[in-house]
Amino acid sequence: MADRFKEISEEIKSFKANNADELEQYRLKFIGRKNVIADLFTEMRNVPNDEKKAFGQSVNELKNLAKKKFQALIEEVNSGGNSVEEHPDLTLPPVKMEFGSIHPLTATRQRFIQIFERIGFNVSSGPEIEDDWHNFTALNFPENHPAREMQDTFFIEKNPDIALRTHTSSVQIRVMENEKPPIRTLSPGRVFRNEAISARAHCVFHQMEGLYIDKGVSFADLKQTLYHFVKEMFAGDTKIRFRPSYFPFTEPSAEIDISCQICHGDGCNICKYTGWVEIGGAGMVDPNVLENCGIDSNIYSGFAFGMGIERITMLRYGIKDLRLFTENDIRFLKQFNSL
Ligand code: DAH
Repeated sequence: MADRFKEISEEIKSFKANNADELEQYRLKFIGRKNVIADLFTEMRNVPNDEKKAFGQSVNELKNLAKKKFQALIEEVNSGGNSVEEHPDLTLPPVKMEFGSIHPLTATRQRFIQIFERIGFNVSSGPEIEDDWHNFTALNFPENHPAREMQDTFFIEKNPDIALRTHTSSVQIRVMENEKPPIRTLSPGRVFRNEAISARAHCVFHQMEGLYIDKGVSFADLKQTLYHFVKEMFAGDTKIRFRPSYFPFTEPSAEIDISCQICHGDGCNICKYTGWVEIGGAGMVDPNVLENCGIDSNIYSGFAFGMGIERITMLRYGIKDLRLFTENDIRFLKQFNSL
């Protein structure tokens, strides 16, 4: 048995650890739960009684030796600079972290929602593939009426008609069919029109629809709400004007212009030297539309508006070609970081 003690003690004394792994090997062998010294303790019962005391002492000495050596090994490994994990080289240049950025259309949509949430609007959505009722008929587009041709539609099926929605006004109908006034909602989303792609048009783009239905809502509310929106979304001195227009689903209807963000009214090719740029349409919801959705037009009235998110984003940032939004050029996209 004395040989065994000697053997273990020699092994401990001569052990060399160059790194954390070897240190761990030492720990498992001499310190860990099932170590070789603990094994000696279990042999204690085979030792004659008069030798037990001396045996116990020898095992304890071995245990202390193992512990001391372990401390020494830890210091050795650490001071040797071998443990890269514990001693990183602080003079090395850092690994560069690339942060993503928000797509400019997302930034505009989020900012839009932020502005309207503060005045009590929620957000609603509807399907991109729509039936004729929600995209046209309920919105007071009579069948075979030329107004349907105002929007070049991608049809999926004819009779009954199913199409890619041409505007997010379809979501107005879905909300009014399912909810009772008061209603204040924004409906952002993708819309589709059969148009050739150019710097100013695309067959897929984004709109933001707004709807407010309650008792006693007037055109003054519409004007003030959009006035507030424009002040928040664009520069503080931005002007807004309403031009009479026509939409089947609103009466009266207006087109909304803002003072040109590029030339501030002096005249440039973005505003075609008028000083004004159109940002969308709006109006008082036609009583027929309310009735189509089961809302009593003698009790309730409301306003609606629809704007192109691409157009607003182009004006906010002075972007001249909307194809940039879908080309995925990282040099363009990474310039937009805040709402
Ligand atoms: N849906 C119209 C379009 O895509 C935009 C619009 C105009 C929406 C007037 C409205 C509105 O809610 O009142 O051209």
